This record gives sequence, structure tokens and C-alpha cells, in this order.
Amino acid sequence: METLTTPLIEEYCEAHTSPESELLYQLFRDTHLHTVKPRMLSGQLQGRFLSMVSRLVRPVHALEIGTYTGYSALCLAEGLAPEGMLDTIEVDEELEEMINRYVNASKYKDKIRLHIGDARQLIPSFNCQWDLVFMDAEKRSTREFYDLLLPRMRKGGLMMIDNMLWSGKVVEEGSRHDLDTQAIMEFNDYVQRDERVSNVLLPLRDGIMMVMC
Ligand SMILES: C[S@@+](CC[C@H](N)C(=O)[O-])C[C@H]1O[C@@H](n2cnc3c(N)ncnc32)[C@H](O)[C@@H]1O
Repeated sequence: METLTTPLIEEYCEAHTSPESELLYQLFRDTHLHTVKPRMLSGQLQGRFLSMVSRLVRPVHALEIGTYTGYSALCLAEGLAPEGMLDTIEVDEELEEMINRYVNASKYKDKIRLHIGDARQLIPSFNCQWDLVFMDAEKRSTREFYDLLLPRMRKGGLMMIDNMLWSGKVVEEGSRHDLDTQAIMEFNDYVQRDERVSNVLLPLRDGIMMVMC
């Protein structure tokens, strides 16, 4: 993922954002050493943002689609209500061992439930109203996930959808024909027209669409 601001601004923001925990730093390093697409991980700046939003919402029911190595899951778990749980869905079973290793090393091991499988199949099996959702999986299915989840959101609940600026391609004439960019642009337009929600497209990192339901 390219940074949308300049690298200097990014560095300055990181230097003026609370540091990540030692465990998150280890996970960041481990992900870079042992996985093929480490840039998918949220990182310190976005991670602290997710943690702060979660601490504001204090979710009882939180959901993440796209766990990867568990970095954002651990950040979201920081804000759970005392009785709260985070369900996180990851389709790639090869990541299961690493996710479990870090979740078990954290103080949130009893607060995070990992589900290995395709979110499309798993979402309908949950029987609760979500207070907070972080959607960070394949981009062409974003609209499908949104439509599945919106009726299951608590009134006033919050969805955050990552990568909605797609390295700036949403405003580049030449990129509009690639399928991911097209899907993201259509999704952003869909949310913008959706009278059931209020939304802010935040230019943080790769763009987070914030949707209040
Ligand atoms: C961008 S990474 C997630 C990064 C993570 N949220 C973080 O911030 O550290 C996207 C993840 O979504 C997973 N994924 C893609 N499609 C999925 C699906 N249909 N159901 C569940 N997980 C999916 C991928 O395997 C990948 O690990």
C-alpha cells in the first residue's frame, strides 16, 4: 500500500501518536519476517486509531472481517466492554497458528474468538447485534459484507471499512477500469447514497470509511 500523505508526514504522525505495545511491535516484526504481504497489517498509526475508536464505542459485540496476523484484532480488543467479545474471521487457515500465538500471549485471549472460514458463510451464523465492525478483507466483496451486516448492526453502531481510497486509485483516471478500484468506487458511492447511515471517508492511511448505522 502506498502512503497517501508524504512519507515525512506519515513519520511525523507516527511520532506524535501513542506507541504500540511491545507485543504489537513483536507481531509487526514477526509479520514482516514471516509472511508474504506484511503491508496488509494495520500498523501503529491505524492501530492506535482502531484502539481509540473501540475505547470510545466500548463494544459488547465487535466483529472483524480479515484478521491476517491479528494486529488489528488486538487493537480493537483494547476497547471492549468488560463483558464484550471480539469475533474475528480469517479465511486463510495457514495464519491460524500465528494469530492464536499472539492472541494467547495477550491479555485479550478470553475476549477474542477466531473463526477460520469465509466471512460470507460465517456472518449469517452469528446471532447478535454488532456495536462495532472493522471490515478489512477482499475488496470486491465489501458491498456484499455491508449488505449482510447492516441489518445486524445496533442502531448507532459503527462500521469501519478499510482501504476505501485504494492507494489513491479512486481518483486516478487510468485506474478506474481495474476491478478492485471499480468495486471500491461503486461501494463508496453506494454508502454515500445510503439514507440509512451517516458516513465519513477518512483519509487515514489507505482511507477508512466510517459508517454510523
Ligand atoms: C488486509 S488483511 C487484514 C489485515 C488486518 N485486519 C490488520 O489490520 O492487521 C486482509 C485479510 O482478509 C482475509 N480475507 C480475504 N477474504 C476473506 C473472506 N472472504 N473471509 C474472511 N477473510 C478474508 C485475507 O486472507 C487477509 O488475511
